[in-house]
Amino acid sequence: MMIRLHPRAQELETESAFKVLQRARQLESKGKDIIHLEIGQPDFPTPAPICDKAKEAIDQGHTGYGPTPGLPDLRALIADYAGRQRGVELTGDEVIVTPGAKPLIYYSISALVGPGDEVILPDPAFPTYPSVIKHVGAEIVPLPLKEETGFRFDPDEFLAKITPKTRLVFLNSPHNPTGGVLTQEDLEIVAKAAIENDFVVVSDEIYSRLVYDGKFCSILSIPGMKERTIVIDGFSKTYSMTGWRLGYALLPSELLPTFELYSVNIVSCVSTFSQYGAMEALTMDQTPITEMVNEFQSRRDLLVEHLNAIPSITCQIPKGAFYAFANITQTGKTSQQLAEELLEHAGVALLNGGSFGEAGEGFLRFSYANSKENLIEACKRIRSYLS
Ligand SMILES: Cc1ncc(COP(=O)(O)O)c(C=O)c1O
Repeated sequence: MMIRLHPRAQELETESAFKVLQRARQLESKGKDIIHLEIGQPDFPTPAPICDKAKEAIDQGHTGYGPTPGLPDLRALIADYAGRQRGVELTGDEVIVTPGAKPLIYYSISALVGPGDEVILPDPAFPTYPSVIKHVGAEIVPLPLKEETGFRFDPDEFLAKITPKTRLVFLNSPHNPTGGVLTQEDLEIVAKAAIENDFVVVSDEIYSRLVYDGKFCSILSIPGMKERTIVIDGFSKTYSMTGWRLGYALLPSELLPTFELYSVNIVSCVSTFSQYGAMEALTMDQTPITEMVNEFQSRRDLLVEHLNAIPSITCQIPKGAFYAFANITQTGKTSQQLAEELLEHAGVALLNGGSFGEAGEGFLRFSYANSKENLIEACKRIRSYLS
């Protein structure tokens, strides 16, 4: 029997990181040595106090369903921590905890837009955004990020994209895949436009603790924006907890009932013992996190230096996240071609910049969540392949 899918389901697209990882694993199973620079996951273990707390929670029987929006104590801790990080007062009623940050992308888009609505999206962007926007039938309006300005957008170009149909604008800073970080001035331009044109901003701040140069700024801290901003953040990247599935949104309390309905219909709640681990993450001594961030910064500098030493590759110094977005146009190959060749013939798994949007063509994304030795070896392999 041929099962007929609804056209809506056919609009969903995959995330290239998972696709490339699968192919890399296949090659490894045939004995090939692959350096993994594709997946966006810290290569540090979850800090021990967090694991101990979750194990203790299991031993104490915290293994059943929990409240749909998250444990009240955890929501209060997040309100305090995330509010201080952004210089705003928040209460637990403005926080919802979800299994990873990803469901919040779906909730935000599905709850706020549909056919006839326009969503302004950075280009390149995290692939889940365009996938879900197409899934709900809304229109994507791409906003190119410019290499020459550290992968920020052009303010005039942004303002020109706004129409009466603009309902939602996505921001992602620090940015995946470019590592770009928006400035306070960039955010003020978006905030002013949001207030004047009455649209909502979804600000994906999952890399908020991974800023190396300059300071992390959130649009939430701009007066008038708390009422119209959904901040997405979580534990995956900051605390090396990708598999624990712990994300959260900071949102206007009027949106909370709707987001709770999404959670109750889709996930019921977040794993209860994971949430005990999250409470420990927020209250423990933060030294392991500072050490991880310092190590990422030093790897970033090393990787960029080695990439720029390859004759046909240039790479800007990314200010945040753990990605470098290297310009490969001088190789004369498309991003997809080169990414495939490097995986199949040089044993380096990377992502094709074009898989993040049209403006990503001509670039490769390198995740530096890997050891310095492997980063150096990967650059050596690429250099040797290209020569
Ligand atoms: C920009 C961005 N948003 C959201 C996510 C999803 O995070 P989580 O694993 O917590 O669902 C990622 C993960 O790669 C990301 O890069």
